[in-house]
Amino acid sequence: MSFLTASIPEAGYGSKIVLTNVSFDVEQGAIAAFIGPNGAGKSTLLKVLIGLLPTKASSVTLDSHALSSRNPEVNVKKGISFVPQGNRVFTELSVRENLEVGGYLLSGKKAVASRIEELLVIFPDLKERLKANSGVLSGGEKQQLALARALMLKPKVLMLDEPSLGLSPKLVTKAFDTVVRINKDLGTTILIVEQKVHEVLRIAMWVYALRMGEIVFSGTPEEVQKGETMRKIFLV
Ligand SMILES: Nc1ncnc2c1ncn2[C@@H]1O[C@H](COP(=O)(O)OP(=O)(O)OP(=O)(O)O)[C@@H](O)[C@H]1O
Ligand SMILES: [Mg+2]
Repeated sequence: MSFLTASIPEAGYGSKIVLTNVSFDVEQGAIAAFIGPNGAGKSTLLKVLIGLLPTKASSVTLDSHALSSRNPEVNVKKGISFVPQGNRVFTELSVRENLEVGGYLLSGKKAVASRIEELLVIFPDLKERLKANSGVLSGGEKQQLALARALMLKPKVLMLDEPSLGLSPKLVTKAFDTVVRINKDLGTTILIVEQKVHEVLRIAMWVYALRMGEIVFSGTPEEVQKGETMRKIFLV
């Protein structure tokens, strides 16, 4: 059964068309990677899925429920969460306050506190930093906080736009290990957009490649690495 399905005939900015005929299904519990060159439309795709970039004829469903094409807040309530490129956090708030903001829809302080406790098992580094102002966190810590905050409402699907951006190679490995743990331990379905193709292929179960706004490849990580596929995707 398809879990997350998308059918996007066309999407873009004003008269500029960026995506054409982008359709796919992601299975429940999968880690699906979206790769492709700069400007291929990867971030645009995630914006369409969450409802930040209104489109006319597109249809996105999650667990058999239609998502809104123009209301991210409604979609968040339906179980989809998004960490945009840049891993931004509220720098004027503490780590705990950032997590509390992420849990705004949970009923009651107790529910919020217990969700924070659950997430600290997956993000042990944040435990020591709960009272710290988020503005003083390292890049790696900010990234972990952005992930944890996006998980506060127990989303069914977590979408990540280049979580590794700006991290050192060691922290990239750590970030991807955390993504795997979120997927395995929490059962969260993951859509991850990445430039670090080699690294993301190690954790992905299925890969879609976008090129000039179209899906030019769909298959397993092993198939991507075979023969001409990589060249076809990335050749300018
Ligand atoms: N707000 C915007 N207004 C107009 N055009 C935009 C806007 N955002 C992106 N674009 C254009 O849409 C196209 C796709 O951009 P997008 O950011 O989706 O690519 P991407 O695959 O995420 O690239 P990157 O790997 O560099 O992040 C590009 O041509 C870009 O210039
Ligand atoms: Mg992008």
